[in-house]
Amino acid sequence: MRQIHVLNGPNLNLLGQREPAIYGSQTLGDIEAELRAKAQAAGVALIFAQTNVEGELVTLVQQAGLAGADIILNAAAYTHTSIALRDAIKGSGARVIEVHLSNVHAREEFRHHSTIAPVALGVIAGFGAKSYVLALDALLAMSR
Ligand code: DQA
Repeated sequence: MRQIHVLNGPNLNLLGQREPAIYGSQTLGDIEAELRAKAQAAGVALIFAQTNVEGELVTLVQQAGLAGADIILNAAAYTHTSIALRDAIKGSGARVIEVHLSNVHAREEFRHHSTIAPVALGVIAGFGAKSYVLALDALLAMSR
């Protein structure tokens, strides 16, 4: 069965209460439930995880990539700083769609740079929780 991993970085466990004007009122659990329903209908196994620890995110990316799974990755603040995550994507051959709830390009300048975007299939940002749904749609439309 095809596997899609949805991996979430630091502070995304606070969704729903964290700066709702920017990130919306849906919790990470709400997003997971929506993606699970969609994946189940498509006959795809969904693995969903969140961590506040950079090295743990690196390990999760490596494991998914080496298993031949695709990844929807919201690396949160590590998007802008982590060379280790970029190397994990490259090194494990992971196919990644980078997602963000907010439009990072309409925000502070330090959010405009991504270490991940150059090694990702594509980037979806600015559609709130729908950014994840659009990424899943994109992966489902692509054969593995
Ligand atoms: C984010 C954008 C990042 O700049 C920020 O650090 C986050 C969330 C988003 O989903 O909009 O934590 O990745």
